[in-house]
Amino acid sequence: MSGSLLASARSHFATLRARAYVPFSDRPHSVLLVLRDGRWIPGVRIESASYSLSISAIGNAVTTAYSLRCFDAVAGIVSSAPLSAADRVYLQALDGFSGAASTSNGQGATAYWRTPPPELGTAVDPTRPVPASSEAGISAARNVATAAHVPESHFPVGAVLVHNNQIAIPGVNVEHPDWTRILCAERNALSTAYAYGYTHCTALYLSCPQAPNGSPCGACRQVLAERAPEATLYMDRHDAPMEQSTPAALLPSFFNSSDLISG
Ligand code: THU
Repeated sequence: MSGSLLASARSHFATLRARAYVPFSDRPHSVLLVLRDGRWIPGVRIESASYSLSISAIGNAVTTAYSLRCFDAVAGIVSSAPLSAADRVYLQALDGFSGAASTSNGQGATAYWRTPPPELGTAVDPTRPVPASSEAGISAARNVATAAHVPESHFPVGAVLVHNNQIAIPGVNVEHPDWTRILCAERNALSTAYAYGYTHCTALYLSCPQAPNGSPCGACRQVLAERAPEATLYMDRHDAPMEQSTPAALLPSFFNSSDLISG
């Protein structure tokens, strides 16, 4: 790993540490997914009170790259800490990473390259304008769904998350040969927002172009109830009017961190 790349990566890790949501482990792992042109996508670990729903830093960054339609341009990953065995397996199953060479600086930071490392540039901008109406939000979610990576199910899902009524962030479902590491569109949008420092979700538009009754799965309901409790959810109903709901209405009495801590 080149010294200058590592030095700039380190300064970004200092910022990303604070964006990880790790109240249970206190292990703020972060990664930079570096594109061939030097731009990069951040990924931070997002924990759930239901531990197994936690999103790894590497899963966060990889799934963001699909939502932003730039996974094919990925040159490699720089990680703030050595990757776990599970993360290495996750990475190796991705196109082009099976033979990726790893380098380590001896102080914990580790990189995996599938093409030669570039100089580090600026972060890829994930933000989109806030949809002007709820109908425009549903139509944006339908469009986002076309970026889904769905070799297993052929069932694309698109989400558009609105932060603080100011900016919007896309999310798609990203599949993996290990089905337990598949990330849904809703959680992808949410974890992308966290990695970029946007944590106040006010609306979420969702579209399953192949399912007029599509609504968030149980895992997404749990994570939305924890991390986006104030969001209004708008669900595409195709030819029928969209349906509106909230995380609390979709998952009453959800398991939350105060249950965990008091237990
Ligand atoms: N999926 C979502 O993206 N969101 C949901 O709320 C339901 C399920 C995805 C996951 C997987 O890629 C495919 O749909 C089938 O489960």
